[in-house]
Amino acid sequence: MNIIKAKGYDEMSKMAAAIIAAQALRKPASVFGFATGSTPVGTYRELVRLFGEGLVDFSRAVTFNLDEYAGCPASDPNSYVAFMRGNLFDKANFKASYLPDGMAPNPAAECLRYEKAITEAEGIDLQLLGIGHNGHIGFNEPDDHFAFATQHIKLTDSTIDANARFYNSRDEVPKYALSMGIGTIMNARGILMLISGADKREIAEKALHGPVTPRVPASILQMHPDVTVILAVD
Ligand code: GLP
Repeated sequence: MNIIKAKGYDEMSKMAAAIIAAQALRKPASVFGFATGSTPVGTYRELVRLFGEGLVDFSRAVTFNLDEYAGCPASDPNSYVAFMRGNLFDKANFKASYLPDGMAPNPAAECLRYEKAITEAEGIDLQLLGIGHNGHIGFNEPDDHFAFATQHIKLTDSTIDANARFYNSRDEVPKYALSMGIGTIMNARGILMLISGADKREIAEKALHGPVTPRVPASILQMHPDVTVILAVD
């Protein structure tokens, strides 16, 4: 693992955008895996700036997002598709961008379709990740095994509590999501993980230096051959 310590959120975001832009410059037809959450917002802002200045072009690049809430339409501002459009897709020129369809009538079939679409795109070149306080990546919650492929997941109470800040009441927070599996993420050729905030210091320590266990899903990244982590936790 290549672990970089950034001086703060802005520096982390600029470093992350530089790595993503470099990937697009090196391989214009890259397949990117993108993430939601507050952590990558600054990275997307910086990418939009680089694109606006003409320093990077995404017209041949394709993106797949990690996850989407089940039962959440694109018209819902809390949907991940709305988040991605607002922060990045409407402001840059990606060739095509995909997320799991949270409204699919058969979530299990949608998970299979999504996994197949990633395979048909010849896999992900660079997967961007944040981390949940319980060590989840995408929506792969702590469990007794690592989920292999994209699946329909019941969110834990701690994740529902964390997401409640975006809703009027806890009852409105989605309880299920469709998420790439740990296997999908581990198949990415390169991984860029961002960890920001003093409240993430403890889970960062466990994920990066603790035992590899499905109880801390992000700990599996220790086994991946090409991971860069940018930490802004001080
Ligand atoms: C959600 C997303 C994750 C993200 C996590 C942390 O659970 N599914 O991909 O990493 O939130 O979000 P934040 O960056 O806001 O702490």
